[in-house]
Amino acid sequence: MSEKSKETELENLRRRVQRCRRCELWKTRRNPVFGEGPANARIMLVGLGPGRQEDLQGRPFVGAAGKFLDRLLEEAGLRRDQLYITNVMKCYLPDNRASEDQVRACSPYLDQQIEIIQPELIIALGNLAASYLLGKFGLKPESMEKMHGKVYEASTLILTLRIVPMYHPASALRNPSLRDRLIEDWRELGARLRELKLI
Ligand code: URA
Ligand code: SF4
Repeated sequence: MSEKSKETELENLRRRVQRCRRCELWKTRRNPVFGEGPANARIMLVGLGPGRQEDLQGRPFVGAAGKFLDRLLEEAGLRRDQLYITNVMKCYLPDNRASEDQVRACSPYLDQQIEIIQPELIIALGNLAASYLLGKFGLKPESMEKMHGKVYEASTLILTLRIVPMYHPASALRNPSLRDRLIEDWRELGARLRELKLI
């Protein structure tokens, strides 16, 4: 698919998300956060879902966790505009967590984004994104302690890709002892991405 038709398909999907009421989170959102980045990105980054700032601005990772993510991207030698950035959940999560039903309702949007973009690698931030994505490709999620920084190989009939689970940047804001671990993980991820010639 050409970049242009990927852009068109993403735009159509964005419009569906804009008016979505498939779960009750539509009632408390201000702006759905669809995601942003180049339609032909080779790398996708997937978080949990919008917080306050993201809900207000309609853009992913623009609050406190996003600030720390910017620092981590820098450690890896990545620029935001090299990535397509989105979340499993598209509407504001008042309790910062999503129920199984909500994930079931919303994840088809992420599935379609992956189908359109066809990334070569997905960085999964935090437990929910990591376990959803590994599960989707028939791989077995483990604890984040075991998974973080590991490169998983996934394949389906239409694509092969790699999935790298990482601690969520917000977890370092809650638990400062994770901060150095995250910075080190992202440095190593940057080296790995260069080895794989993805950046
Ligand atoms: N946390 C997430 O998981 N996603 C965002 O977009 C912001 C904070
Ligand atoms: Fe729809 Fe997802 Fe928002 Fe629920 S969270 S209303 S499924 S876009």
